[in-house]
Amino acid sequence: MSKKGTYYITTPIYYPSSNLHVGHTYCTVMADAMARFKRLCGYDVHFLTGTDEHGQKIQTLAEAKGVSPQAYVDEVVDGIKKLWATMEISYDDFIRTTEPRHVERVQKIFMQMYENGDIYKGEYEGLYCTPCESFWTESQLVNGCCPDCGRPVQPAKEEAYFFKLSKYADKLLDLFENTPEFLQPESRRNEMIAFVKQGLEDLCISRSTFDWGIPVPIDEKHVIYVWLDALTNYITALGYPDQPEEFDKYWPANVHLVGKEIVRFHTIIWPAMLMSAGIPLPKQVLGHGWLLLGGEKVSKSKAAKGNDVVDPVILIERYGIDALKYFLLREYTFGQDGVFTNEVMLKRMNYDLANDLGNLVSRTVSMIEKYCGGSVPMATTSDEIDEDLKAIAVGAASKVEEQMDKFAFNMAMEEIWILVRRANKYIDEKAPWVLAKDESKKAELDTVMHNLAEAIRIISILIYPFMHTTSKEIRKQMGLWFADVVWEDAFTFEMMYGEQVKKGNAIFPRLDIEKELEELQALNKPAEPANILLELKPEIVYEDFDKLDLRVGTIIKAEKHPKADKLLVFQVKMGTETRQVISGVAEHFKPEEMVGKKVVVVANLKPRALRGMESKGMILFADNGERLEIVTTTAEDGNAVS
Ligand code: MSP
Repeated sequence: MSKKGTYYITTPIYYPSSNLHVGHTYCTVMADAMARFKRLCGYDVHFLTGTDEHGQKIQTLAEAKGVSPQAYVDEVVDGIKKLWATMEISYDDFIRTTEPRHVERVQKIFMQMYENGDIYKGEYEGLYCTPCESFWTESQLVNGCCPDCGRPVQPAKEEAYFFKLSKYADKLLDLFENTPEFLQPESRRNEMIAFVKQGLEDLCISRSTFDWGIPVPIDEKHVIYVWLDALTNYITALGYPDQPEEFDKYWPANVHLVGKEIVRFHTIIWPAMLMSAGIPLPKQVLGHGWLLLGGEKVSKSKAAKGNDVVDPVILIERYGIDALKYFLLREYTFGQDGVFTNEVMLKRMNYDLANDLGNLVSRTVSMIEKYCGGSVPMATTSDEIDEDLKAIAVGAASKVEEQMDKFAFNMAMEEIWILVRRANKYIDEKAPWVLAKDESKKAELDTVMHNLAEAIRIISILIYPFMHTTSKEIRKQMGLWFADVVWEDAFTFEMMYGEQVKKGNAIFPRLDIEKELEELQALNKPAEPANILLELKPEIVYEDFDKLDLRVGTIIKAEKHPKADKLLVFQVKMGTETRQVISGVAEHFKPEEMVGKKVVVVANLKPRALRGMESKGMILFADNGERLEIVTTTAEDGNAVS
């Protein structure tokens, strides 16, 4: 074991429903940066990532494509692994939830929880969002739809196994209150405390309406419902329970890095499951913010409607891995959402990489070649400016450490760039081209060349965990390509004397931002629209459709719901009958513009109360991408629509 001990870091296991976008790479790039940083600092690091391959959504996608779920995920996972290889993500293990090692161990963990009396059979009733594979309660819905993805939910009821989550409420509160570092930031911790205090319901952990999952060991009709299957990856990958040696070496995990939308699963369900199975808890769960595109979470469908490219493969091909990684680490503040646009990205690449870092290296190497025959001279003079550069250079590594301790990747980058910019300013202040004209200034000129070489050597160490290819290229130009990168060397300023520098290519070429934006925009619009099958809900039979009674109606009155901003209350005439229908469309229509409109109504839908007012039926609307439109007709009201 290393002197510093072990460090176990994980990313979420991604759904292989389709290829990943830049938002997914964000989390993995951060985890990779931390893993590389800790390794460089001397830890025995174990970095785990993987894919979450079961569930109804995958089964439905595979059916639509006419392939088996296994074949479907194999293809997508192949692409994900290629992406990580291209990005040189330094994971130590990649777990797929369809691997036998995971399947067998999940079943064993299920049995442990069952034998501890924490799993029982019951009946689940709720509102189910298929794309998110989540059950919701009425009060959790937003606008009557899934609070996570905004799509409609369906009532669902089935026999299922339950985990006694409610039993762990007090222990969870103890955890949040007595181990504050378990979940940061403070605001998220408070949210979770409030969530637990509002009362925990037992958790449905099996499904019987689809079969793409791990069979429940005591009841083959059921498959284990995704979150028990997914969360346990963090321990099954380490060999729990049958390989205690590997498991004990790295567990408990130092940190689970996850997006903010799954913090709840990782800080409530996951610890409760571990408590039930008698396993120690991870030390920390950190929730990062989202990359946003036009105010919404980055997604491929959202990107396809705009001009910004979110496909990491394209971005890497054009700008290189390190430019993308640097941008992701530098631009966003951990824990907060941040806007993603190609323009913001290109500006970062140009200003920080091409201008600041690239220029520093190329100017320095050229000058050492020109003034010193390519060999780094000794420093024999010193003034305040030299001392200032030196202090910033040798002080940078501990500042980077401090920021990395807080997962403040952007600030760690900033600390490095304070040095980069200081070194560039140093060149301007010292004006070596002036010193070179005066023979009596030779010693001073040598000092400047030496100090710049030292500063760049230190920069090459500091950026190594974040941009190792660039670090290597810089070290090659500085004559250090044979030497290992050693973190401790970033604390000294006396290693470069006598090294032979050699000019290479520009490490980051300058980009013509306007031109790049135009080209990216063109890339985002496929020339030939491909016939890509829609992601649909599970197939139904004609008899299911025939149960619907759709009728033409005329809206004769429309007003705002007195108790809900988002709802409009309509009086709809359907032939002889006039009835009240409530829709969550107040953000899309003014009440007065709806009066007189012909609409299509699901007329035999069971009435339900919405904020104290009865709604009898449902009006159909179509989403035009920006807002809703009425689905309309010129037929007489009361007539059937079929
Ligand atoms: N399979 C579950 C996780 C199970 S973990 C035991 C899942 N998968 S996912 O494919 O949807 O990936 C979710 C993760 O991807 C997020 O938690 C986040 O880390 C990352 N991101 C996906 N889109 C993102 C953005 N737009 N912005 C930032 N991160 C994003 O949930």
